[in-house]
Amino acid sequence: MHAEIVVLPGDGIGPEVAAAAGAVLNAVAKRFNHTFTFSEHDIGGIAIDRHGEPLPASTLAACQAANAVLLGAVGGPKWSDPNAKVRPEQGLLAIRKALGLYANLRPVRTHEAALHASPIKAELLQGVDFVVVRELTGGIYFGDKTRDTDSASDLCRYTVAEIERVLRSAFRLAQQRRGKVTSVDKANVLETSRLWRDVAARIGREEFPDVALEHQLVDSMAMHLLAKPREYDVIVTENMFGDILTDEASMLAGSLGLLPSASLGEPGAVGIYEPIHGSAPDIAGKGIANPYATIFSAAMLLRHSLGLEDEAAAVEAAVHAVLDDGVFTADLAAKGHAVSTATATDAVLAKLG
Ligand code: NAD
Ligand code: IPM
Ligand code: MN
Repeated sequence: MHAEIVVLPGDGIGPEVAAAAGAVLNAVAKRFNHTFTFSEHDIGGIAIDRHGEPLPASTLAACQAANAVLLGAVGGPKWSDPNAKVRPEQGLLAIRKALGLYANLRPVRTHEAALHASPIKAELLQGVDFVVVRELTGGIYFGDKTRDTDSASDLCRYTVAEIERVLRSAFRLAQQRRGKVTSVDKANVLETSRLWRDVAARIGREEFPDVALEHQLVDSMAMHLLAKPREYDVIVTENMFGDILTDEASMLAGSLGLLPSASLGEPGAVGIYEPIHGSAPDIAGKGIANPYATIFSAAMLLRHSLGLEDEAAAVEAAVHAVLDDGVFTADLAAKGHAVSTATATDAVLAKLG
């Protein structure tokens, strides 16, 4: 098949990990006889530097015309002044919103060969396999913001329609998996959460009676996630809770550098595929970032945007195989045994043949 893929490398380690995933997609094209064309565009801090805005119209137009978008990461200290007029992160939020990508799938899986990298006991980690469905275009991220000299506010607002559609994504996913949805909220305090819980219960009862639904408060969820991570199948939650819980969940897998994501909308929407981690300014430019999260994201791109299931599975199998071989970047390796981003990427390419 032919596919047009837009690559948005962004800032910090973004370009390093995006290049790794791009090389993997190229290898997939070769091995499976596809033609993928790639075009790079600016987003985030680099777009502010070059164009004065974090999401130039030309970048958005290119994404809208593509089959899928692969993104590295945005942000960094250069653009982090609390009083800055424009911020790299605004570009990311704006593109998610503009493409209508309300469902952010963040799969969390442990890898036998990487259990040592987790601070959690190995016996709790074996077989962990869940997906967090994070609502991505609503809530406190997108509510009105105000700031004056002695106060500031961020409005958290959700409509019934916004909650319904992301809940349906989660229930449908659970139907293809182990049939269980855990809906996470703060219904003991927040009105938006009480609405969320009502809608989740109704959608579950009326539309997905075959799926088991449980509700969990977000604070105790943060604890249960570490204490009994194997219990979970699909976890669905609002924007900010999903952001926080998934960085926490990365410690089950052993590193932020292992967790991919797919941001999806209604059928026909152009999906964005990116690691859940950020631009990692502390290691940027050193060639030591873990590329696996972005390579796993490329696998999700093949599966969800291009419908290439065999190709996606081949990429995932290649990463699992290099993990089994002990090809670890510094975030996963024992001291003195780390490989570079380039070496880790080459190992994946070699497995793909
Ligand atoms: P971060 O995710 O960039 O880094 C957190 C820690 O994890 C750092 O120690 C980093 O070195 C490590 N890490 C992250 N990815 C890694 C990888 N692939 N390999 C090895 N180690 C890795 O979070 P932060 O430091 O809080 O944020 C830095 C910047 O990134 C901020 O400007 C933030 O807004 C931005 N950010 C962007 C995205 C995105 O583009 N999707 C996501 C999160 C944060
Ligand atoms: C993520 C990031 C972003 C978010 C930031 C950079 C806007 O943390 O993709 O998880 O909070 O959504
Ligand atoms: Mn985040």
